[in-house]
Amino acid sequence: MGYALVTGASKGIGKAIATRLAKQGYDLLLIARSENLLGDLSKELQEKYKVKILIIGVDLSTDGAVDQISRKIESEQLPIQILVNNAGYGLWGRFDTLTLSEQEAMMRINTFTMVRLTYHVLPYLKKQPASYILNVSSTAAYQAVPTLAVYAASKAFVLHFTRGLRYELKDSGVSVTCLSPGPTDTNFMNAAGMHTEKMIQRAAKFNMTPDKVASIALKAMFKGKSEIVPGFINRISTWLTSFAPKSLTEKIAAGLYD
Ligand SMILES: NC(=O)c1ccc[n+]([C@@H]2O[C@H](COP(=O)([O-])OP(=O)(O)OC[C@H]3O[C@@H](n4cnc5c(N)ncnc54)[C@H](OP(=O)(O)O)[C@@H]3O)[C@@H](O)[C@H]2O)c1
Repeated sequence: MGYALVTGASKGIGKAIATRLAKQGYDLLLIARSENLLGDLSKELQEKYKVKILIIGVDLSTDGAVDQISRKIESEQLPIQILVNNAGYGLWGRFDTLTLSEQEAMMRINTFTMVRLTYHVLPYLKKQPASYILNVSSTAAYQAVPTLAVYAASKAFVLHFTRGLRYELKDSGVSVTCLSPGPTDTNFMNAAGMHTEKMIQRAAKFNMTPDKVASIALKAMFKGKSEIVPGFINRISTWLTSFAPKSLTEKIAAGLYD
């Protein structure tokens, strides 16, 4: 088995995906800013599953982050078989009340870094007889979301990039899957600044666990699925969204996140 490169592996969904891949015997290259958390996770998984683990503590929104990862892959000649583009976050608030620089940094990590990393890792994936890309989008990708306007647009980018790339690679050994989770019990809401009582209560009702999301995502990825929305309610709501008038879905989304 080759290596799985997982971005945003220090916590939440990325950590759950990395843990499940280690359990399946994959060696890991783990990326996030919190080097201490990656170090703890690496120690735990190495002891439990006897896999090789390399970590890189880097801010993926900075210039040069992807080059640093590429140099590591090149110098160690790592046989990358799975790329999980999971690192990302949201910013909640009206467009004109958030600073431009923080919204640009979010767009960089959610879109630009994903594209750049995929470009650099793809030649390694193509060397494998069967390999996988799992890009993490969101149910927010399926309609515009007022107060998460830039975030939702960045996740729509992820969804469309993933589908386009998947088609281009359909005759290769590289399978490309888009994961679009709904509310999941991670640090996401905290990082996004979603602190209202209403949002916290709704999240407590609908949250899935990161491990459940990881389990569904990896099954879909290994089966070669194009898109996976974990959870019945999330699947139904994204399906209904495709039929409903945009003005209605935007009104409903605005009500959910005000
Ligand atoms: N939780 C949800 O409800 C939900 C719903 C839909 C989609 N998603 C998507 O799922 C993915 C994972 O999020 P999560 O819910 O697991 O949230 P999380 O617990 O906040 O984890 C985010 C991960 O991304 C990493 N990260 C964030 N900014 C980074 C940066 N600048 N450079 C490097 N790494 C960075 C974080 O590591 P460090 O902080 O250590 O850097 C962390 O490992 C995201 O793409 C998110 O948009 C989440």
